[in-house]
Amino acid sequence: MDRTFVFFKPNSVRRGLMGEILKRFEQRGLKIIAMKFHKMTLSQAQDLYQEHKGKSFYGPLMEFATSGPALFMIVEGPRCVELVRHIIGNTDPLKADPGSIRADFAVSVTKNLIHASDCMESFQREYKIFFTDEDIIDYKLDVQNDL
Ligand code: RTP
Ligand code: MG
Repeated sequence: MDRTFVFFKPNSVRRGLMGEILKRFEQRGLKIIAMKFHKMTLSQAQDLYQEHKGKSFYGPLMEFATSGPALFMIVEGPRCVELVRHIIGNTDPLKADPGSIRADFAVSVTKNLIHASDCMESFQREYKIFFTDEDIIDYKLDVQNDL
């Protein structure tokens, strides 16, 4: 079973959208195997977004990512990395497919509500910034037999 790393960005929390977004993950049959409500530190933001250092949006991205509490999770399910990227939609909400989270609720590229790893290698690197392997809880989610 595949895994991916997701966090609901601080504006998801401030806008009261955590439940609405989480509902979409549950409806799709994805299993939450770790979860943490936490305010990202600057050092964690620098680690997470190291590939973007030096770009024009890097400063605002650091400021936004650390601007308040966010909801972090590890998600498990079949084809999980691609599936979650599909559920969240294109980085630019105006290019995101209708019905995706970013298309339905986001406006700006920087404040696009949610992050998900873009490949397995990114997942392996990213979840370790926020979780230890002891945080992962394995359990059976019967609905996954029917996906
Ligand atoms: P994320 O990493 O947050 O899931 O988003 P992504 O893969 O769809 O996009 P990525 O290229 O990795 O960019 C990371 C985050 O940086 C902000 N960004 N702002 N203003 C801009 O041009 C710009 N470009 C990227 C967004 O918050 C994006 O999600
Ligand atoms: Mg990315």
